[in-house]
Amino acid sequence: MSSIENENDQMSLGAKVAPERKHKIWAVGGGKGGVGKSLVTANLSICLALMGYKVVAIDLDLGGANLHTCLGVPIPEKTLSDYLTKKVRSLQEITTPTATENLFLISGAQDDVGIANMKHMQKAKLLSQLDTLDADYVIMDLGAGTGLNTLDFFISADQGILTALPEPTSIENTYRFIKSIYHRKIKNAEELLELGPTIDQALNAKISQNSTPADLVTKIIGTNPQMGHRLKMELNKLVPKLIVNQIRTQSDIDIGFSMQIICKKYFGINLDYIGYLEYDATVWQSVKRRKPLLMEFPHSALVNNFDQIIHNLLRVT
Ligand SMILES: Nc1ncnc2c1ncn2[C@@H]1O[C@H](COP(=O)(O)OP(=O)(O)OP(=O)(O)O)[C@@H](O)[C@H]1O
Ligand SMILES: [Mg+2]
Repeated sequence: MSSIENENDQMSLGAKVAPERKHKIWAVGGGKGGVGKSLVTANLSICLALMGYKVVAIDLDLGGANLHTCLGVPIPEKTLSDYLTKKVRSLQEITTPTATENLFLISGAQDDVGIANMKHMQKAKLLSQLDTLDADYVIMDLGAGTGLNTLDFFISADQGILTALPEPTSIENTYRFIKSIYHRKIKNAEELLELGPTIDQALNAKISQNSTPADLVTKIIGTNPQMGHRLKMELNKLVPKLIVNQIRTQSDIDIGFSMQIICKKYFGINLDYIGYLEYDATVWQSVKRRKPLLMEFPHSALVNNFDQIIHNLLRVT
């Protein structure tokens, strides 16, 4: 049964459930721009903070940073640019308080200095710095598209959350994003499993139009069964969480279930549909007022939606 069907045991935003591990990292991504990634990052962060967790929301939208607006804070004096250009040594130093107790922001770079060309080492260092932050949860807001930095941030998280709109272009982009993280994870597993030539062979062969990520693994199993099965186990750990945003009808809600089925059937990927967000005018009103939605409109229909989503995320974390 999908997680979204568990509506009986809905948890209120005030109830605190202890996580198994102290420091959890979630990433919010999606194939397309404007699908609600920053809205989701900001409001999931607020939900967790209201529950008593210490939360750091980090804006990793390289080139379009605006998470601060969704959280209702002006651009902080120190941003990720200062870390990337080595003006400060640690991420903790650029962590800024917000109006919500327990919730802190690491604001994204407002210029392209050091960010657009973030190199592998810098990225690895940044990711390892996330582990040093003083927080129960770190939530990453990612940029649109399937750039390698974005894919790596997504894969590195304990929970990778995808937002999609119930419209064909967004759905297509979501599938593309899922395919890309799958391929990226395979490339990353290359070293771990010493699969180099086998992977290259399979990735080169996959260029045909109809091949799916599942076909790719089957090909690798065909060439090297032992390693292929280990790779399959590694890939089974990849369970992206899906949120369908801006729903207006029941059929919009059902799109999430269809996507779940399609991902399993054609990609061999367990997509976990964790909830939906209604289309609601309070969203743009809160953006216009530069205030966080859940704080500005505590009676918005989206409060229940976020409640359900956070419940499902904490259940699987
Ligand atoms: N559930 C909703 N109801 C109404 N409007 C919404 C909803 N979700 C998002 N929006 C509108 O869509 C806009 C884009 O949302 P948001 O900035 O969160 O998307 P994004 O995926 O982070 O975009 P980008 O890729 O540009 O960073 C919001 O400013 C808001 O106006
Ligand atoms: Mg955004």
